[in-house]
Amino acid sequence: MGEVDSAFIQIPENRPKLSIIQAEGIPVINLSPIIDNTIQDSSAIESLVKEIASACKEWGFFQVTNHGVPLNLRLRIEEASKVFFAQSLEEKRKLTIDDIGFPGYQDTEHTKNVRDWKEVFDFLSKDPTLIPLNSDEHDDRVTRWTNPSPQYPPHFKVIIEEYIKEMEKVGFKLLELIALSLGVEAKRFEEFFIKNQTSFLRLNHYPPCPYPHLALGVGPHKDSGVLTILAQDEVGGLQVKRKTDQQWILVKPTPDAYIINVGDIIQIWSNDAYESVEHRAMVNTEKGRFSIPFFFNPGHDTEVKPLEELINEQNPSKYRPYKWGKFLIHRKDSNFKKQDVENLQIYHYKLP
Ligand code: OGA
Ligand code: NI
Repeated sequence: MGEVDSAFIQIPENRPKLSIIQAEGIPVINLSPIIDNTIQDSSAIESLVKEIASACKEWGFFQVTNHGVPLNLRLRIEEASKVFFAQSLEEKRKLTIDDIGFPGYQDTEHTKNVRDWKEVFDFLSKDPTLIPLNSDEHDDRVTRWTNPSPQYPPHFKVIIEEYIKEMEKVGFKLLELIALSLGVEAKRFEEFFIKNQTSFLRLNHYPPCPYPHLALGVGPHKDSGVLTILAQDEVGGLQVKRKTDQQWILVKPTPDAYIINVGDIIQIWSNDAYESVEHRAMVNTEKGRFSIPFFFNPGHDTEVKPLEELINEQNPSKYRPYKWGKFLIHRKDSNFKKQDVENLQIYHYKLP
């Protein structure tokens, strides 16, 4: 990754500005009322739900503490990720899946499809994961994605699998809170994850970059799934576009906290009550940075559309339905084929 490639040079409006606002930052929410099962205090839960509602509305981003994920496990996966990425490119590329480069290892040089200063290792929550064969709406055939088997560092796969279980637990708890905050049944979203969940864990490594003013670790984007649960290290670099004034706000690293963001699917389920928010990650010259997002995604055959309970004459549906798996495949295809066309976005499904 040492050589500077013109592909890394961002178009001007995406260039990181040096005057980044260091504001109070996104809300920090303490999850202890729902994690500690001995607490049966309904008023504590009620106020938690209110906090979630306002964080989702005002920011689309928040941090959580007392989430129940063992710190020891987080430290183990962070350490394993560093050891993994410290291997030679040749070793890591043995874990690249030829066809679409997913799941497994991907460096920017291999695919030339992203303009991000990073390398990633992706691992599916469910092995195998069922997924449509192509993005053609009239073709019902499915295929299977399977995980690679990394041999190094020792126990890597086991640690990842254990960590994913914890991510799913937090994910389901958060979904309950979000459902309650929207005024629907707590378990409303569970059905979409029971069958063929397409969630995955991504290990990100952003190497030091000699031209941090010209490159981004990950360019501005929104996450297209339901929720993202992100562990970032102490280096920091994640920025969120504040809804009130469109300024980039740095998300300060908080030890042992997780950063949660609402994805496009929650935006649609909530009929735009909770919008997914743009974010990006900076790189810097001296320090490499590591982060671990878990993308909590529904089954491929989930029809994404606003919740019926929230729709009425005053608040008509703002989106026409789409199949999540078809959307996902469409994105992956256009990324891999290096097409310069705009990625499929949820506003393509917006009703007039
Ligand atoms: C992502 C992402 C931010 C980060 O991978 O989708 O937004 O801080 N990552 O790594
Ligand atoms: Ni993201």
